[in-house]
Amino acid sequence: MVNAPSLPQPNAGSSNSANARSKGSVRRGAVRIVLYALAALVLASIWALVFPQQMPAAIGEYVETLTGANPHPVTLMRPAAAPLSAVALLGKQMFFDPRLSASGQQSCASCHSPQHAYGPPNGLPVQPGGPHMSLQGDRAVPLLTYLYRQPNFSIGPDDGEAETTASLADTAAQAASTPRAQKVAGTAPAAPAMVPQGGLFWDGRADTLQAQAYGPLFNPVEMANTDVKTVAAKIAEAPYAATLRQLFGPAIFNDPARVVSEAMFAIARYQVEDPSFHPYTSKYDYWLEGKVRLTRAEIRGLHLFTDKNRANCAGCHLAAPGKDGLPPMFTDYQYEALGVPRNRALAVNRDPAFHDMGVCGPHRTDLASQTQYCGMFLTPSLRNASTRQAFFHNGVYHSLDDVMKFYNLRDTDPGKIYPRGPDGKVMKYDDLPERFHANIDVTDAPFDRHFGEQPAMSDADIKDIIAFLKTLDDGYPPQTAQK
Ligand code: HEC
Ligand code: HEC
Repeated sequence: MVNAPSLPQPNAGSSNSANARSKGSVRRGAVRIVLYALAALVLASIWALVFPQQMPAAIGEYVETLTGANPHPVTLMRPAAAPLSAVALLGKQMFFDPRLSASGQQSCASCHSPQHAYGPPNGLPVQPGGPHMSLQGDRAVPLLTYLYRQPNFSIGPDDGEAETTASLADTAAQAASTPRAQKVAGTAPAAPAMVPQGGLFWDGRADTLQAQAYGPLFNPVEMANTDVKTVAAKIAEAPYAATLRQLFGPAIFNDPARVVSEAMFAIARYQVEDPSFHPYTSKYDYWLEGKVRLTRAEIRGLHLFTDKNRANCAGCHLAAPGKDGLPPMFTDYQYEALGVPRNRALAVNRDPAFHDMGVCGPHRTDLASQTQYCGMFLTPSLRNASTRQAFFHNGVYHSLDDVMKFYNLRDTDPGKIYPRGPDGKVMKYDDLPERFHANIDVTDAPFDRHFGEQPAMSDADIKDIIAFLKTLDDGYPPQTAQK
């Protein structure tokens, strides 16, 4: 450490001294004061660098930018590590078992690869499936990490809290007249708008992981089974059949519906219990805890991500830990219509009359008459998102650069985002019938810019935001994270 020089006397250099000083000594005194000030600054900076968490809040952001350290580290509540239960271990075997598909070639893990945050292992926009693996899916495969915290589907006030309601359609009809609240990073909405939230799948049509697992099992373009009986018969012949008898009673195989129900429960337990589905080992998690520093680019990216007037990503992809100490999930679990361009590479889209409109259908059917939700899809968590090779519900983009370009130019320069029609006009929001265009979010930044205006982000901003997004990937080397 530096040897701190003794402090100058308070009246040193005072001009009313009886002994008039020579000009030279005054100058030397001034030089000395500047040197002391510099030394103090160096010491303060060293202090800030070594103990950034002890800096007062006012200079917190300055320290954050200067050092890359989190000036206000928190204790994150992580799930307690425990060995998998017998049911979860059974579910794990089933998750990886291709026997459960009609083709005999596809398991859950074929589309939800453990090496890819339980997302698709390739760059295809959607995955193949079906009885002969020759059919194309129509939605991008989501990641299965962190779903254990997904609340049930509901339509409720925009306060981030899920409530169950008697009839979704009734609530939706009542909510139709309530104005929509604006989403601003870091603030609570001013007006309590009624919004769809929670649920699994891009349209929230399943609530529990158990109910969800029936979806792929019987989806004709995925595992393509036709009835519970066939699935139960396959399970009866699997090496884990004895485990089912042990866990659920010797008579279990007399009731095919129960076999499949317990099997789906087991698959759900595997996803809930196995720490690989929610490791919380991202650089950002460690940064929140004060264990690592972010680079200049990552810190700038974080500040832009949470800047409510510019990128405003955190308006929907929440970035701060919850009041309960739970690590941030990078989603508010709500639904939004962003007007993502039509993906012309999908077989379903060869039919110009086909539109995937999310919450109002066609896969989800109970809210078909609630047209105010047409075009809305779930805001996904951005944890591990940078490892994806296809983005958005229809997999239309294949790089984060293109995703960022969409956010930046959708309104300011739509000709760069959407194709042109035969009349030469830009077909803005080309994946949603025109009568539903009013559902598309044009109020939240970065979507509040107008045609021809300056986009919300510069090229440098985009680079930094992408650098930040990469800090949300799990598997940051733990030795680097130890202080
Ligand atoms: C052919 C590829 C494929 C297979 C096989 C597959 N899935 Fe999926 N999975 C998808 C797609 C596509 C979606 C999104 C569908 C939608 O939103 O309508 C999805 C969604 C999910 C979701 C909801 C994720 C979210 O963010 O809401 C879960 C959970 C899930 N799958 C689990 C499973 C399980 C368990 C299995 C095995 C029983 C399985 N999947 C088999 C493609 C697949
Ligand atoms: C108004 C809410 C909102 C804002 C603001 C917002 N997003 Fe999103 N984000 C969504 C929704 C909804 C989707 C899914 C849309 C779809 O698939 O149709 C999404 C999808 C994404 C995806 C694709 C993830 C995947 O699994 O395919 C990325 C990446 C992303 N957002 C990053 C960002 C970034 C970066 C910003 C800031 C520039 C941002 N978002 C701002 C709501 C929002």
